Amino acid sequence: MAWQNLSVRAQENCRGGGSNVMIQGMARVSSDKFDLQTNPKGIINLGVAENQLMSKELAAILRPVNAVDPKLFGYSEGPSGSKLLRKHFADNIFNQYFEPHEPVYEDHIVFTAGCSATVDNFTFCVCDPGDGILITTPFYGGFNTDIMAKSKARVIVAHLEDGVSPFGVDQVELMQQAVDQATAEGTRVRAFVLSNPHNPLGRNYPREVLIEFLKFASRNKLHILFDEIYALSVFDYALSGEAKQEQPDQTPFISVLSIPNIEDYCEKELVHVAYGMSKDFCLNGFRCGCLVSPWNKDILEAMNSIAVFTWMSSPIEAMIIKLVENPATIDWFVKTNQRRLAESYTLTVDILRAHRIPFLPAQGGHYIWIDLRQYIPSALVNMAAAGEREAEYMLWKAMLDKGVYLNLGVAFSEKKVGFFRLSFSVPPWLLRIGLERMLRACERTFTLSASL
Ligand SMILES: Cc1ncc(COP(=O)(O)O)c(C=O)c1O
Repeated sequence: MAWQNLSVRAQENCRGGGSNVMIQGMARVSSDKFDLQTNPKGIINLGVAENQLMSKELAAILRPVNAVDPKLFGYSEGPSGSKLLRKHFADNIFNQYFEPHEPVYEDHIVFTAGCSATVDNFTFCVCDPGDGILITTPFYGGFNTDIMAKSKARVIVAHLEDGVSPFGVDQVELMQQAVDQATAEGTRVRAFVLSNPHNPLGRNYPREVLIEFLKFASRNKLHILFDEIYALSVFDYALSGEAKQEQPDQTPFISVLSIPNIEDYCEKELVHVAYGMSKDFCLNGFRCGCLVSPWNKDILEAMNSIAVFTWMSSPIEAMIIKLVENPATIDWFVKTNQRRLAESYTLTVDILRAHRIPFLPAQGGHYIWIDLRQYIPSALVNMAAAGEREAEYMLWKAMLDKGVYLNLGVAFSEKKVGFFRLSFSVPPWLLRIGLERMLRACERTFTLSASL
């Protein structure tokens, strides 16, 4: 076996890596990328949460920065981000948009090369190998890697059964059961991680649920990490017509930092926020994330002690400072982005509605959760109902063959078969072609069912 001279943990990763469907899908997309001129039959990526709606404007804002200035050839000020970068984030992002009950200061922030690295380093600091981190379904699949690959912690999944809303307080009972069961089996559960706004569901948690989560963390002495990486991509206020009317509620985004007297619900030192530039600032490739932990000096110190491994590069730091140094630039950027997200979202739901494809209306994020169960070939309906995923893979492969990539439910640990996450944050002309390809693939798979 070729891996025999690797560590046990590396061998585990090698064994698991190839089976990750997201990685397989991405490999196919990157080997055959759509390009209108050079590869019009290539694959359109509606699977990854990357926002291309502000690319031109970003390029104009960042172009004046000389990325090959010899001043940027050396190490930057420090591995956790320079004081200036941290101050701009505190003043111009967190204190401006997250409405913190107590101001965020630069000393509360530790930077890493991306939010994935933030979650990985956070896990390393709160878990020993084998410890557990609780997550409810469906959830952003990247958390699996962030939590398990390096720190070797375990993801403890609380499956939300039918009838239990991911945005209601009832789920807390299932969370408690998952923690109790893990504990009875010998796993020490150390933290609860969630994304708000929710990925993949694209909705905000109501205040009462956030408070129940805090109480739950306190009862179980768990750290609670709020991944708020989509905080400024909430666009529902900019919707109109049917897209507005079909919203089930108007719950605003509430950062946990904004909850007054948080100590009434949870020990403050257990509460942390993860953030980054990939989503709200459309800079996935820049690799910039951070942990905000206003009340826990120990975790900041622990994160700082390993920050050297996730140090952002100097040119990237210089460009990010350029983007966030001016509150007026951020304000314009955020509002324009939200308006464009609302437009792309509207285009998407208009087409889904016209084809009677059920979806969960989204308030924020770059994606929408859609239900393609009606396209499951009839021969596979019973198997799909029993949780057999073949029908989902079939649909997914049919889409790839037609030239469009969506992310499938299994990648988010969704138990029900036939749900997909569709990212709409691509230019409208491209979105239209992608959606047409998706529809053709679904219809073709469905018609094929007769011959199965
Ligand atoms: C909820 C959530 N957290 C973290 C990340 C990873 O962010 P980054 O690109 O900064 O590593 C993503 C990316 O999809 C995400 O959706």
